[in-house]
Amino acid sequence: MDSKKPSDSLTVMTELVLPNDTNTFGNLMGGRLMYWMDIAAALAAMKHCNAPVVTASVDNISFEAPIKLGNVVHIEARVSRAFNSSMEVHMKVWGEDFTHQYKYKSNTAYYTFVALDPNGKPRKVPELVTETEEEKKIFEGALRRRQIRLILGGKMKPDDATELKALFVND
Ligand SMILES: CC(C)(COP(=O)(O)OP(=O)(O)OC[C@H]1O[C@@H](n2cnc3c(N)ncnc32)[C@H](O)[C@@H]1OP(=O)(O)O)[C@@H](O)C(=O)NCCC(=O)NCCS
Repeated sequence: MDSKKPSDSLTVMTELVLPNDTNTFGNLMGGRLMYWMDIAAALAAMKHCNAPVVTASVDNISFEAPIKLGNVVHIEARVSRAFNSSMEVHMKVWGEDFTHQYKYKSNTAYYTFVALDPNGKPRKVPELVTETEEEKKIFEGALRRRQIRLILGGKMKPDDATELKALFVND
């Protein structure tokens, strides 16, 4: 199975915020944005493994700035680390006002996807090989983020989270 680079899975989604996407303040609804992010991230994961995927988990998302009606949403997604059958996808989201010609950061997030075989069982995915300094930094933090997710999802005992413990315990 050939390894892949983060740039191989790069997926860029652009959406226009229409009235049906907004809340009563005229801003993009968080749920609509998370839906678009789920699709962009799933496409990135599918590009990486060339197989169908399901969303296994979504990390904490903080919305830093509202995206206004009539503005444009840009989502950039790429696989940031591959494990056995799961892949972490990193996303950057920003808004753009074409009329006043400025861009603003909305949020960043990590989604995790699992590749499935034709029987619906998790299947192995290609290794991820990083190239840039930013990709390496995000890659290195992925083991810790994975352990937090698995603990919160009831799939790992906190005692087994060696990467997390290493941050706090000096032998
Ligand atoms: C995600 C799913 C495929 C995992 O299946 P499973 O039988 O629990 O399989 P395993 O425990 O062997 O885990 C398989 C992989 O999923 C990962 N995983 C499981 N739960 C996870 C979670 N909460 N967060 C992140 N990764 C998770 C495991 O770490 C493992 O990754 P690895 O192979 O790279 O080590 C299964 O729980 C599922 O189908 N969930 C529903 C998915 C879905 O419907 N998504 C849409 C949301 S509505």
